[in-house]
Amino acid sequence: MAEAGFTVVRLAEFAWSKIEPRPGDYDFEWLDRAIDILAAHGIQVVLGTPTASPPPWLMARDPTLFRVLLDGRRVAFGLRREYCPNHPGYRRAAQDIVSCMAEHYGQHPNVIGWQIDNEFGDRCYCPICTTAFHAWLQERYGTLDEVNQRWGTVFWSHHYTAWDQIPAPSSTAWPPNPGLGLDYSRFCSDSYVTFQQQQIDILREKSPGRFITHNFMGFHYDQINYFDLAARLDLVAWDNYPSFQWNMDAPLDPTLPALSHDTMRSLKQQPFWVMEQQAGPAGWDMLGPTPRPGKLRLWAYQAIAHGADGVVFFRWRTATVGAEQNWHGILDHHGRPGRRYEEIRRMGAEIKTLSRYLEAAQPAARVGILLSYDSRFSLQLQRYNPNLDYTAIVREIYRVLHRLHVTVDLVAPDGDLSPYRLVIAPVLHVVSETVAENLRRFAEQGGVLLVTARSGVKDDANRVVQQPLPGLLAELCGIEIEEYDSLPPGATNSVRFVSPWLANGQTAEAHTWCEVLQPNGAEVLAEYQQDYYAGRPAITMNHLGAGHVIYCGALGGHDLFQPLLRSLLETAGVAPVAVGSEDLEIVERRQGDRSLLFVLNHHDEAKDFALQSDYINLLDGAPVKGTVQIGPNDLVILAGQNNHEG
Ligand code: GAL
Repeated sequence: MAEAGFTVVRLAEFAWSKIEPRPGDYDFEWLDRAIDILAAHGIQVVLGTPTASPPPWLMARDPTLFRVLLDGRRVAFGLRREYCPNHPGYRRAAQDIVSCMAEHYGQHPNVIGWQIDNEFGDRCYCPICTTAFHAWLQERYGTLDEVNQRWGTVFWSHHYTAWDQIPAPSSTAWPPNPGLGLDYSRFCSDSYVTFQQQQIDILREKSPGRFITHNFMGFHYDQINYFDLAARLDLVAWDNYPSFQWNMDAPLDPTLPALSHDTMRSLKQQPFWVMEQQAGPAGWDMLGPTPRPGKLRLWAYQAIAHGADGVVFFRWRTATVGAEQNWHGILDHHGRPGRRYEEIRRMGAEIKTLSRYLEAAQPAARVGILLSYDSRFSLQLQRYNPNLDYTAIVREIYRVLHRLHVTVDLVAPDGDLSPYRLVIAPVLHVVSETVAENLRRFAEQGGVLLVTARSGVKDDANRVVQQPLPGLLAELCGIEIEEYDSLPPGATNSVRFVSPWLANGQTAEAHTWCEVLQPNGAEVLAEYQQDYYAGRPAITMNHLGAGHVIYCGALGGHDLFQPLLRSLLETAGVAPVAVGSEDLEIVERRQGDRSLLFVLNHHDEAKDFALQSDYINLLDGAPVKGTVQIGPNDLVILAGQNNHEG
């Protein structure tokens, strides 16, 4: 490890039964020894609290410790994450093991940080959670009358007269009342936030000066409000597996890790870590393809390009036992260094010289995409159309910007929008007064705002608003939605751009969802071409103070969003970090006017990149002029000549 340039190792995140083999009987000797050996080689340690994998003796105590699934079945022992996050007995046991570890290692000079639990997730629907949900509701709404009113329990005779009549959602009563469903999702998210907080409190007290993190699951994980989970942590970390058993039938898509990196950086607007970076072919019962030579290094650099200040590979040596025998580490089962080790060792040597350039430099976004967990949760209950997929729509918009080499943040809808010139609100389905006000302020102060179809439909109790859509955003957008049309899978319409502002005369396909807009002050940018609403507005632009609000009533793909986003970037005055070369990923970390340009080639053949000026390639110190060729699965890191001197 030391030879390959490793400086940090994460340990013990699933080691509960090894640390406490029997209740109250602790054994730290083996871990002390591991930490000492690492210290002797200059390698620091992040310790995981082991609460994601309770030992059998604990779970044998009480069947109610196990989580209950939406269909009412209880999880059995045998994997991990079996526990109910609200179970008082589990919380106590978790506090005990964390206190004990923190007492033993809290001041250890070689322990620099803590990872709490491992990949929080999975909703629990057990009776203990249901009772905790009632308390959560009392806190939020005060009275049962208010709950009845906000949820509209008059419908189908659901009026509650006692808190304990309120059920958890169940697949046998699906879909639930939308108010109940959304609040239950929020409650489940909060349950992990409070579970985590109990550990944060212990670690803050017993292990001062060490950072506290958790390993998140990137953009695509949609069951926890990650802004909330990140709020009280010092650092966001996440687990990055671009290619494994579960996506082996899809083409490798570097946009997906890019989107997750940007999301993770945005949660705290801070540098993040990758706590698990793919180290080899990966799977449980099956195996994804072996990452081609160069990929592991390239994926790790991609993280750094997007703002990671730490990358920890998972795992060091492939396990010969357990459910993850197929999840390959840097070393194979036999433990001898091979091709993957050499690739990572090369990177270790490079990082030694690179770190001084990376310090303090971060991606600086002028474009924000709103990431609304309320909208995501709401759409999990009512999707409207088989193809209306919140995650896929955000991804589609992100992909266009990523290919244009535009730096993007993912922002909470009530977050600070002042750093941005362009804000995109994809399917902002649930809109509170606060969020509407935030968007209005942004546009009035000169921002450019894009709002897409299915926005402003629900209030924050998941009721459909009573005014014409897009509800609280209608005035801001200068339109009302006259009608909407949910298109059957495979059916399409098309829109024609009718304004010089927007690729005049071009057409684009619309699918999934078409809204017929009635301008109310806004100008028309595009019209539908087919069906009974042919000739009616599909995209509009409203001018508001110094800003512009664009409403896109049709959903579609690249040919719809690419011209639209290009015009928006221009109007907003946002320059991409590079122009052209759309088959390369180009990302910038900057500090003041110093810029580091990462140019990544994710293809299996070499690509040329035409330079706008002269640079130094920091990876080999060589000056580069004119055109630089980037080998397959390789990259260059370019610094302007004067940056390099500095
Ligand atoms: C992550 C997890 C690791 C390991 C890896 C491979 O989700 O945090 O512990 O299980 O996946 O499955």
